[in-house]
Amino acid sequence: MTNWPYPLWIAHRGAGKLAPENTLAAFRVGASHGYRAFECDVKLSADGVPFLLHDDTLQRTTPERGTAGDRSWSELSRIDAGGWHSRAFAGEPIPSLDAIAAYVLRNGFALNIEVKPTPGQEAETGRVVAREAARLWAESRVAPVAPPLLSSFRPEALQGALETAPGLPRALLLDSLWSGWFDIARALGVAACVTHYNLMDQALIAQLHGAGMRALVYTVNDPAEALRLQALGIDGIITDAVDRFSPGESVRD
Ligand code: G3P
Ligand code: MG
Repeated sequence: MTNWPYPLWIAHRGAGKLAPENTLAAFRVGASHGYRAFECDVKLSADGVPFLLHDDTLQRTTPERGTAGDRSWSELSRIDAGGWHSRAFAGEPIPSLDAIAAYVLRNGFALNIEVKPTPGQEAETGRVVAREAARLWAESRVAPVAPPLLSSFRPEALQGALETAPGLPRALLLDSLWSGWFDIARALGVAACVTHYNLMDQALIAQLHGAGMRALVYTVNDPAEALRLQALGIDGIITDAVDRFSPGESVRD
């Protein structure tokens, strides 16, 4: 298998649920709990700027409504992405990928960028995110601890990333083992597959490792589940429970 520079424990959307997901505040909370690797969701503004947001639409995590990808970055950058969570985070902005990269690189952290395209923009989002991630990491004044890991549920997005920045590692996200997933993962040259934890077992880890791929899971918040996966030799665990699991310590149930 290829070199794997990523920590076992990865904080989901920055800090899971302790802070507003996909904001810089969340990354800071995750870091305060000892996390050195982070997952976040990235899509494109109407004018092609990569920014962090999970949903296609704005209403769950901001006071605005409608499709986020229809707004310009100038509009998006002024939206409150923290007040929905709690008063302490009111006014926390939607971050650009640039801003998060600056924080992660300056602090020597690793980043898993989930390419989360607005529907219909899969290939373009993969291309732009890969291009921008490659540029940001190449321009870093601090030597990065690891390249950005580009993951997606959408093979078209990973194909776009492959065409634009073939040197960046890619990972296929799987919420089921749909027909043909393994051949597509191999054709895309992914370094890893990241599955829902319910799908991961000894046979699947052996299949992935046998193909030279790493095996990761999302989103594990239960200590017994984390212990099961670690006993199987899992390579990465994405978690919301940054206050329960301490990176560097073994899990106790
Ligand atoms: O990247 C793993 C995980 O984040 C995928 O699910 O819906 O939380 O983005 P979701
Ligand atoms: Mg995600």
